[in-house]
Amino acid sequence: LGRFLPEALDVWKAYARDLLAAATHKASVELPNPFRAAQPLRPDQGRSVFRGRHELIGNIEGILAASEQSSSLALLGPRRCGKTSLLQMLPVMLPDCVCVFFDLQDNPVSTVSEFFHALVRRAREQARSYRKIELPTLEGEATFESATRWFEKLDEMAEARRFLISIDEFERLKDLFPGDNRDLLRLMGLLRATIQHRRKIRLLVSGVAPFEELGRLWNDHFINVRELRIGHLDQQTSVDLLCHPIPEFPAGAVPEEVGKLIYQRTGGQPYLLQLYGTLLINRLNLMERSTAEIDDVKFVEEEALMQGRYYLENIYKDAPEPVRKVLEALATGAEASVSGDTRRWLERRCLIDAAGALQIPVLGVFINEELRA
Ligand SMILES: Nc1ncnc2c1ncn2[C@@H]1O[C@H](COP(=O)(O)OP(=O)(O)O)[C@@H](O)[C@H]1O
Ligand SMILES: [Mg+2]
Repeated sequence: LGRFLPEALDVWKAYARDLLAAATHKASVELPNPFRAAQPLRPDQGRSVFRGRHELIGNIEGILAASEQSSSLALLGPRRCGKTSLLQMLPVMLPDCVCVFFDLQDNPVSTVSEFFHALVRRAREQARSYRKIELPTLEGEATFESATRWFEKLDEMAEARRFLISIDEFERLKDLFPGDNRDLLRLMGLLRATIQHRRKIRLLVSGVAPFEELGRLWNDHFINVRELRIGHLDQQTSVDLLCHPIPEFPAGAVPEEVGKLIYQRTGGQPYLLQLYGTLLINRLNLMERSTAEIDDVKFVEEEALMQGRYYLENIYKDAPEPVRKVLEALATGAEASVSGDTRRWLERRCLIDAAGALQIPVLGVFINEELRA
């Protein structure tokens, strides 16, 4: 074997050297693509492309600091606007607080007991990984009583100054307990008591609809709710994201005029900004180019209309009939007089601007071209 090995080793070495050279070459001609459109952003994935939101975070901090008030927070905004991303990013934004992110989608539960088990497990995992704190466990079975005890124990912990428990997409709670409303009512009662009596624990729920649209259940139980609205990113933030997504991104690869055009086409909608960004870089790399041009945006938009189909289509499908008519009219560029409930509906979802025009022009293209076809 000794006779043949040196020869094989040489072949391997040459092969590895070629691979390395090819990779180095590729890295030198290709632009990095740090944009993330498919998943919510997290501290370990996409932190540098998480932008803006300073005012919102300041507000949350302020509400948490006001210890004498036992208010809870509701983060409300349209789909794909960045609610989950913001909640997942809170541990690094609020260093004084133990932030627990709980997502009903990732934690499919169908009973009260499963709900508490999942909540406590997530809370313990996150406190350990972000704050190096050991949280108590549930005593015995997961029941309302043991959950109440658990919240008490959290409140008594000396190591932590404050806990913020975020429940993402809280509208889903109501679907958890089909048939029987009793459990849901008790759960809401427990959450309410937790807000009122546990000094250190605050609750943040996120959702698409404001409480008044959800009916009495939420109104009755969430007292003293502070509503926080989340919307699109402003021009400066959007352009900066597109032109300088990470510190090592080559300056000038995405010129400011290209960033501005993308901002105009998307209205600063966070998901669309990231989608355009990632498609633009893919295109440049495919064509082995190092600088974007204004003309690239229309090709990128064609692709975005396909890849963003699910999102764009849902905006239209979710709209009640009279709103759809208005959207169709606005999409053709017609002057539509929008007033009353329709206007409020559209404004809540960041779909029209102050002048009554479509906030996301590419949505107009989609409605015109894709839905009419
Ligand atoms: N602060 C932000 N800065 C830049 N992009 C963002 C930001 N927040 C969200 N995004 C982009 O928008 C997409 C949708 O965000 P997500 O948090 O899933 O929204 P929501 O929970 O409101 O549906 C993310 O995948 C990301 O690409
Ligand atoms: Mg979400």
